[in-house]
Amino acid sequence: MATRKILTPALGALAAVAGLVAGVGLTSSAQAQEQAKDAQSTDLVAAGRDLFNTWSCSACHTLSDAGSSGAVGPSLDNPGLTHDFIVNRVTNGSGPMPSFGGQISEDEIGKLADYIVAVNHKDAKVAAAPAGADHSKQ
Ligand code: HEC
Repeated sequence: MATRKILTPALGALAAVAGLVAGVGLTSSAQAQEQAKDAQSTDLVAAGRDLFNTWSCSACHTLSDAGSSGAVGPSLDNPGLTHDFIVNRVTNGSGPMPSFGGQISEDEIGKLADYIVAVNHKDAKVAAAPAGADHSKQ
């Protein structure tokens, strides 16, 4: 019991120091990761915006980030759109929406979908980043 009384504060202090060191380490690597994600998502957004305009999506669709105001199809300023849904529509088309499968590569359709989802969730970087990060591994 007596040893425990002496050891406990010492261990407590050690744990506090270790926690501090670990905390500092975590903070800086988390910041580095955050910066890397920011850079990556900025690239993805720029690439996606290029694709969106190159493939004339802008002619038929409104999307604020791309500065487009097409009104043939529904506005893509819609946070309810999911990656898979967009990939499906762009690949297969739907009614008057042309199918782009075979014209735009699967990889680029994925990037377009990432882009549309990302710009609809600009305030939720954490939610948007994993989709971009996953995609870049493919
Ligand atoms: C010729 C006009 C036209 C072009 C070009 C076009 N779309 Fe569409 N798009 C439409 C129409 C019309 C619809 C609605 C289809 C329906 O309701 O069945 C649509 C639907 C969609 C949807 C589903 C939206 C929703 O809320 O249901 C997405 C996503 C989409 N388009 C993305 C794109 C992308 C990305 C491109 C560029 C690669 C593109 N579209 C090019 C006309 C177009």
